[in-house]
Amino acid sequence: MFEYPLPHPEPPVEFEEILLTEAVIQKRVKELGEQVSKDYQEKDLHLVALLKGALVFLADFSRALQIQVTLDFMVVSSYISAKSSGEARILKDLELPIKGRHVLVVEDIIDNGVTLQAIMETLKLRKPASIKICTLLDKSEARKIPVKPDYNGFTVPNKFLIGYGLDFEEKYRNFPYVAVLKKEAYESH
Ligand code: IMP
Ligand code: MG
Repeated sequence: MFEYPLPHPEPPVEFEEILLTEAVIQKRVKELGEQVSKDYQEKDLHLVALLKGALVFLADFSRALQIQVTLDFMVVSSYISAKSSGEARILKDLELPIKGRHVLVVEDIIDNGVTLQAIMETLKLRKPASIKICTLLDKSEARKIPVKPDYNGFTVPNKFLIGYGLDFEEKYRNFPYVAVLKKEAYESH
């Protein structure tokens, strides 16, 4: 259940529990930053973040890197409320070319894998020098399409999560921790 002292603001009643506290996330994000910095020491790294979910993770992760990087963003839609629509649509494409670049796609969470698979296929057609995936969360039990992250912060249970960039109907993205949303909260919608 909730950890004491309670984080501020107090968790809404729709939250079942806090799965990953702010401290736990921050520690892991630093580790990911160190690992990626080591692996890309000799390369020019280009981060491609999928908005909006990856925004908060990207902000912390990119600052945990000890190498120089460039950033670009893509807006993809695959989710309708708490249920996946099973397809990915590019709502906003990248601004910069990725041909010949070492690309690391930064995601908040991989769920059934449809979104990322579609994005990876599209991006590979543009001939990057390399392309890998870094996700904060991997809901591996929910996978329908075999997508494997090269870097993963946490493997999480197949529950609806919010906070640290993840939303439910656009709410809770700014919470510094990851919480489980009560089933009643999204099943009534
Ligand atoms: P996939 O195509 O099922 O892998 O969908 C991945 C996308 O769905 C993520 O980038 C999130 O935006 C969203 N998503 C998946 N699971 C959750 C969740 O538990 N909470 C909030 N958003 C989620
Ligand atoms: Mg997302």
